[in-house]
Amino acid sequence: MSVSASTIPAAAWRADFPALNQEIQGHPLVYLDSAASAQQPTAVIDAVSKYHREDHANVHRGVHTLSHRATEAYEGSRDKVRDFINAGSRAEIVLTSGTTEAINLVAQSFCRPRLQPGDRILITHLEHHANIVPWQLVCEQTGAELVVAPINDQGEVELDTMLDLIDAKVVLVAMAHVSNALGTVCPVEAVIARARECGVPVLLDGAQGVPHLDIDVQKIGCDFYAFSGHKMFGPTGTGVLYGREALLEAMPPWQGGGDMILEVSFDETIYNELPYKFEAGTPNISGVVGLGAAIDYLQAIGMQNIARYEHELHDYMVSELKTVEGIRLIGEARNQASAQSFMLGDIHSHDLGTILDHQGVAIRTVHLCSMPLMQRFGISGTSRASLALYNNREDVDHFVAALGKAQEIFG
Ligand SMILES: Cc1ncc(COP(=O)(O)O)c(C=O)c1O
Repeated sequence: MSVSASTIPAAAWRADFPALNQEIQGHPLVYLDSAASAQQPTAVIDAVSKYHREDHANVHRGVHTLSHRATEAYEGSRDKVRDFINAGSRAEIVLTSGTTEAINLVAQSFCRPRLQPGDRILITHLEHHANIVPWQLVCEQTGAELVVAPINDQGEVELDTMLDLIDAKVVLVAMAHVSNALGTVCPVEAVIARARECGVPVLLDGAQGVPHLDIDVQKIGCDFYAFSGHKMFGPTGTGVLYGREALLEAMPPWQGGGDMILEVSFDETIYNELPYKFEAGTPNISGVVGLGAAIDYLQAIGMQNIARYEHELHDYMVSELKTVEGIRLIGEARNQASAQSFMLGDIHSHDLGTILDHQGVAIRTVHLCSMPLMQRFGISGTSRASLALYNNREDVDHFVAALGKAQEIFG
């Protein structure tokens, strides 16, 4: 059901998150660090707890009841992920420990065997380190070149330049769907359209896309989509690599071990079918059960309702921040989701984060795992407030008041 932002029952959503109901240093907690890791609803905490209390065993091939139950719950979550992002088949859903592992998998299994000296990987200037360093590693290993599409002063990808950089030398385009540091929603449709014309596959780092946008990987048309469970209200140590089946099929395994095999002898190993070929060893079963519960939770609310609510709240936060004397917003893209970075006068972001914590307000500070982006803006670090479905206008008001207090302290 779709509802307007003003009638959305956000107060009810907030009550679903027990961690929010506490005081920090004598103040009600205002949690504005969901882009780093989101809080978990009771439904997720209970699902993980039930699994541990009643259903825990190792998955796949067990003949006993608990193993069947654990397998059903684990594989049930894979089906939920498939449905959540509208992938064509469950074979396209590789369960990983997070976005970082998913991107490294593509770097080592898809790119490394294909890359020749002189080939290129194209990224943008606003990437998280997880979408930079794996490409640097594979470029070092193969002699390929990492090319970086520029961004403008608003923190938007310079689209025309990026489109011009896509040619037959590019083996993969890897870009954020939403920037973790700036909240910029990137023009992925135009990039994918151009990449398609040139036959270049595209990986989207969806770590900040999935918690805030209604994701349909078939509609988006990307070849790979990577994301993390803990940023979408699920447990840490869980994540997903969506990959087009034909591409995954052609890729070699990236780690060897149990579960990713059909048959092993000292002469030869026959690998398991998709997606198990990419899931070596005992997985994070309880975490994946929690991920499934997080998806149930999000789907019951509806991602479009969440996006609409957060969009309005983000607009409110930005307009309130602009009233604060001495504030400099870092990143003012026309299309933003959830996050806003800023500097306050000469106050170092680390000091600012500490002062805000004394008032119960949790923000992220310093380089935000995006050092090249900080260099682009000529700063060593910044502060970031990021919103989730459980935040409200009172949170923003507390936050802005806390900034005023910080100014008083620093004179
Ligand atoms: C855009 C983006 N990509 C990748 C990551 C890495 O995610 P993880 O540490 O869960 O693997 C993050 C985490 O902050 C992120 O925001």
